[in-house]
Parts: sequence; C-alpha cells; structure tokens
Amino acid sequence: MGQETWTAVEEYVKDCVIMPDDALDQSLAKSAEAGLPEIQVPPGLGKMLQLLARSMGAKRILEVGTLGGYSAIWMARGLAEGGKLITLERDPHHAKVASDNITHAGLSDRVELIEGPALESLEQIAAKNDDPFDLVFIDADKPSNPDYFAWALKLTHVGSIIIVDNVVRDGEVIDANSKDESVQGVRRLNELIAAEPRVSATTIQTVSSKGYDGFTMALVVA
Ligand code: SAH
Ligand code: DHB
Ligand code: MG
Repeated sequence: MGQETWTAVEEYVKDCVIMPDDALDQSLAKSAEAGLPEIQVPPGLGKMLQLLARSMGAKRILEVGTLGGYSAIWMARGLAEGGKLITLERDPHHAKVASDNITHAGLSDRVELIEGPALESLEQIAAKNDDPFDLVFIDADKPSNPDYFAWALKLTHVGSIIIVDNVVRDGEVIDANSKDESVQGVRRLNELIAAEPRVSATTIQTVSSKGYDGFTMALVVA
C-alpha cells in the first residue's frame, strides 16, 4: 500500500463524500494551465476547512499563502452571511490566477486578496484594528511558520482555530538535525506551541494525492 492507493482512495472519497463544485475543479485546471505548482491542499482538507468554518459560524477567515485560490474558495464557501476571507500572497502571478479563480467562483465580494510578503500584510492588517479572525489557515513559506503563528495569535480570539499545513513532510519533522529550513520551521513552530499556554493543539498525519504529510490544529483557549 502506498501513493497509488492513497490517490485512488482520494478520488473515490472525492466523488462520493466531498463533492467539490465546478468552480473548484476549474480553479485547479486554470492554475495548472498557468504553470502554478500543484501544491494546493487535497480536497479532503479543503472540505474539512470549509466544515470547520461553517460549524463555528466563521465571519472572518485569514489565509497565509493563496497560490491559485483553491483552499480560499473552499473556506470562503463556508463563511457565514456577510463574512469575509482575507488571503495573502507574495507572488504576483499566483495572485492574478487566484483573483481570476475567485471571481469565477462568484466570491470576489467576500474575498480580499492582499498581494505582497505576508509579514508586511499582517502588519497592515493589525494596524487596522478590525475584528479578530475566527479561523486562520497558515500555508505559505514554512520557515516563517513561527512568525505566522505568532501573528495568528495576535489576530484571533478565545475560541478561534488556527490550522497550519504541511507539518509532517514525509516524516522529516522528527529529524532534529535536518538541514531543510522548512523542517526547522515546523520544529520551531512546535516548540512555540508547546510553550504557549494560550493554545491547545493536535497534529494529524495525512496521506493523500499529495503524499504523506499532516496539519496542526490549535484552539485558542485563553
Ligand atoms: N493555500 C493554497 C496553497 C498555498 S502554496 C491552497 O491550498 O490552495 C504556498 C503559497 O504561499 C505560494 O503561492 C507562495 O507563493 C506563497 N508564499 C510563499 N512565501 C510567501 C510570503 N512570504 N508571503 C506571502 N505568500 C507567500
Ligand atoms: C509546499 C508548500 C505547500 O503549501 C504544500 O502544501 C506542499 C508543498 C512546498 O513549498 O514545497
Ligand atoms: Mg500546503
């Protein structure tokens, strides 16, 4: 059992349980056409993010790392009436493709895409002093995970959920001596979480069309 089975099961589950819509499928086709890397969340995680948003009645969602807008579309479809999703993307080409995909999905009224390095955009968001976010999805450059997590804590409230993608990476996360900056970013994030009394967290390992990976889910408890 391995990658072939994981992908086949994902296809099966996608058709009978997850049921993505045409705009989601189209966003993947358009992103591939535009040459974007195919590193979006697998459909099972996209749907999970949407269900989380719905179950908590999310009015404000923050995403760090838009790519072609696939996960943003999943989550924006789970927003409560009048809700808003803000998504941050550094790469202008990715941002353009995402913006078209979001418009095509009929979500441009609910989604604000901020182009630029996320750490700068986060400063600007914080300066605005708007309502805190109910749900935060961190999925950009992995070495900056600790910084993004610290920002997420500043911009949320008790009861908010913070999800961080790609925290297992084929199991490389257990290698304390890894030379991979992304792995070290995840390990520093875990140290931060361990020492942070304001969150209670878990990490779920996953297999999918994207291989063996996982995500961390943290609930803001204080
Ligand atoms: N969340 C997307 C996938 C994001 S891939 C989905 O599941 O559909 C990671 C994205 O983060 C890439 O598009 C990359 O350009 C962007 N990124 C990387 N470093 C960044 C930074 N410092 N600021 C903002 N975006 C960044
Ligand atoms: C990478 C980034 C992601 O967000 C992802 O889901 C998979 C891979 C990467 O930068 O390699
Ligand atoms: Mg990811």
